[in-house]
Amino acid sequence: MKKNLIAGNWKMNKTPGESIEFVENLIEKLKDKDYDDRDILICPPFTSLFPLSKILQKDKKIKLGAQNVYCEDKGAFTGEISPEMLKEIGVEYVIVGHSERRNIFGETDELINKKLKKVIEYGMKPILCVGEKLEEREEGKTFEVVRNQLENCLKDVKEIENVVIAYEPVWAIGTGKNATPQQAEEVHVFIREWISNKYLQDVAKNLIILYGGSVKPENIDSLMKEKDIDGVLVGGASLNVDSFLRIIDYKGE
Ligand code: PGA
Repeated sequence: MKKNLIAGNWKMNKTPGESIEFVENLIEKLKDKDYDDRDILICPPFTSLFPLSKILQKDKKIKLGAQNVYCEDKGAFTGEISPEMLKEIGVEYVIVGHSERRNIFGETDELINKKLKKVIEYGMKPILCVGEKLEEREEGKTFEVVRNQLENCLKDVKEIENVVIAYEPVWAIGTGKNATPQQAEEVHVFIREWISNKYLQDVAKNLIILYGGSVKPENIDSLMKEKDIDGVLVGGASLNVDSFLRIIDYKGE
């Protein structure tokens, strides 16, 4: 059965010590909860992955994801982290193409496509982020931008089953301005149709499409009521245990 996914993207926040404290606290608060319709994922900074993997090997309620990866197996790439390094410590998901990587670090669709393929090759699940900037939305180019990103980032990708797509309108990230559930839903429907035309209808039906951009305890329930929103990628509100817990505990339809 397809499960929804509630993912926290901590970005460049929390030391290893703070990460351990957070996860131990979250596990304690999740003790009496047993969700069978949703997965919980945390994507901490690289330095926290290993200590958290030790804790999460014992408590399997929370899955572990990375925020980035390099597109080569190994070698002279100072400062980069390989897919094998992530795989060995139990990382299941890797975010690729986050708008901060695109806009601050200049990542192109071509590089994102290479990273995504490597993540699949190593048996992990890429979370591919797509989304338009404010001026692109205002010029009515939202669908065109998202279609181009999908076409380029999924170029020559045959196995789409393990790919998660996150629709993150850039104007909604960290700004407090979230897309309305209807604005998000219409792009999610567009993404699912695009996948359905390019791959199989069944694959599109089972595809997990996340919404990201100022998701908070106050708006999670209305977002999760939309038919094509299969979860969320949460930045700021995933840094506090109680607000993340409330998001995990959303009331869907
Ligand atoms: P935000 O970030 O929830 O702080 O807007 C979301 C993201 O960038 O994944």
